[in-house]
Amino acid sequence: MDLRPIGVFDSGSGGLTAVREIRSILPSENIIYFGDTSRVPYGSRSAEILLRYARQDVRFLRTFDIKALVVACGTVSTTALPRLQAENADLPMLGVVEPSCRRAVSVTRNKRVGLIATAASVRSGAYERTIAGLDGDITVVSKACPLFVPLVENGRFRVGDTVIETVAREYLESLRDTGIDTLIMGCTHYPLLAEIIGRIMGPEVTLVDAGAEVARALKRELTDRELLADRPCGETTLYASDRPEDFGLLAATFLGQPLSGAVRAVDIEQY
Ligand code: DGL
Repeated sequence: MDLRPIGVFDSGSGGLTAVREIRSILPSENIIYFGDTSRVPYGSRSAEILLRYARQDVRFLRTFDIKALVVACGTVSTTALPRLQAENADLPMLGVVEPSCRRAVSVTRNKRVGLIATAASVRSGAYERTIAGLDGDITVVSKACPLFVPLVENGRFRVGDTVIETVAREYLESLRDTGIDTLIMGCTHYPLLAEIIGRIMGPEVTLVDAGAEVARALKRELTDRELLADRPCGETTLYASDRPEDFGLLAATFLGQPLSGAVRAVDIEQY
């Protein structure tokens, strides 16, 4: 049993889709979430810049004596996770790539898996490498969707919003026509678009939610290490590096519940 909090970070609000899942399957845990709203989006950055940002994000969360850390950012998971894990070997640290790939490999029937993610994640080839290591017969068809994150961060994720629906059709119709039966939403912002994505891809395509998969992996990890908390109800504390009030408004929608306190501001460049 361990009552220390779990740290979670993302470039902005997308990682809250992972927090929502963690809350639902690990309700006793305290979570400290950091959204790097002053530097979002991460997906268009180089690997060197991403590593610098991610190191600062980890250093900030480690000031809270966390018992585990979830990199709820596909972009950091694909470009920097092994380095971060090596530099923080004393801390259980999970990214979204492996849990999502394991799920995709287990659900695909025709061995054709699609991946949508940021440009940096697609460029890294991390999903392809991980799936090849799990099942060498699977073909992965990838598509970078760089406009999704800024649209979601600006609240344009609802069904019926013509801007996001037009962009989604532009990105996804060609992917659907490749015959994939499984689609990894390899960026934690994308589950907010699940309904729009699902309508375009059709019912025969199974969507894999990176946030939900990393939440399940976290539960297994904490259980195996006997690190679960046993209080009746945990709480979530949110930090953002810019516009904490705006972040709070979006966060309540993403988490599907009102916030228990104000979002706190952090100057991430100090870490
Ligand atoms: N939500 C993040 C991801 O999963 C970051 C996207 C971005 O900032 O570009 O990739």
